Amino acid sequence: MEILKNKTTLQNYIERQKEMGKKIGFAPTMGALHEGHMSLYKAAKAENDLVISSIFVNPTQFNNVSDLAKYPRTLDFDIKQLEASGNVDALYIPEIKDIYPKQTESKQYNFDGIELEMEGKFRPGHFDGVATVIEELFKQVRPDQAYFGEKDFQQLAIIKKLVEKLHLPIKIHGVAIYRNNGGLALSSRNERLSSHQKKEATLLYETLVKVNEWFRIITIPEINSRVEEIFHHASGMELEYFTIADEETLKETDFFYKDKSYRAFLVVNVGDVRLIDNMHLD
Ligand code: PAF
Repeated sequence: MEILKNKTTLQNYIERQKEMGKKIGFAPTMGALHEGHMSLYKAAKAENDLVISSIFVNPTQFNNVSDLAKYPRTLDFDIKQLEASGNVDALYIPEIKDIYPKQTESKQYNFDGIELEMEGKFRPGHFDGVATVIEELFKQVRPDQAYFGEKDFQQLAIIKKLVEKLHLPIKIHGVAIYRNNGGLALSSRNERLSSHQKKEATLLYETLVKVNEWFRIITIPEINSRVEEIFHHASGMELEYFTIADEETLKETDFFYKDKSYRAFLVVNVGDVRLIDNMHLD
């Protein structure tokens, strides 16, 4: 695997690959890699000639300094995992100046309201930060296809909108959530959970499974209050929000329409670790 440590090295590499007519798949990350990321690379490898990943902990998408400071950084282990997977041809590890040559600031975007729902309400400015780094990475890496996990479903929707609005010739793929045996969605943040908390945190998945069973049988307000009740009784866990939303617009709904698809979204703080999960309802 090639390790590309700055923008110039990356751009020379991309130029050579483009000249050879290689189809490029890209999966950007913030490191602390786990099996969930490995499933992105696997999907990318199956559909491209070449897979590139990046590791860059993007400061502008964090709402508070302590969350940024606490974000796990495990570069040596990440590189070992990437080598072992055999699915990644090159890893881009930009420096801050490669992404933010002037100020470390987000651009401001309009994503037709998707950015104002759910995470947008609870993490103001977060999606501007994500879109800023992804726009820059897309312009530098120039992939044909890019891969993102469905765990951050709203982020995936924002990135699809970004590509549409900027007319970038990149196909965006969502990859199914990778869960451990208990159902806990894999996340870099899980590293900060104790083994006891990890077991407890399977309640997020168990709750979503129940919601899917209740879907179209009881009303949404009734589902909402049952979910609140579940977390009210769970010690060490605090429900930040639970929402059933239209899968297209991500707008919260209080009523199911026959011809629309819905997804349940859940955010829970386990100790001081913020966990996010979602499930398509069928
Ligand atoms: O999902 C992530 O890891 C990050 O939000 C992303 C997409 C790499 C942008 O920094």
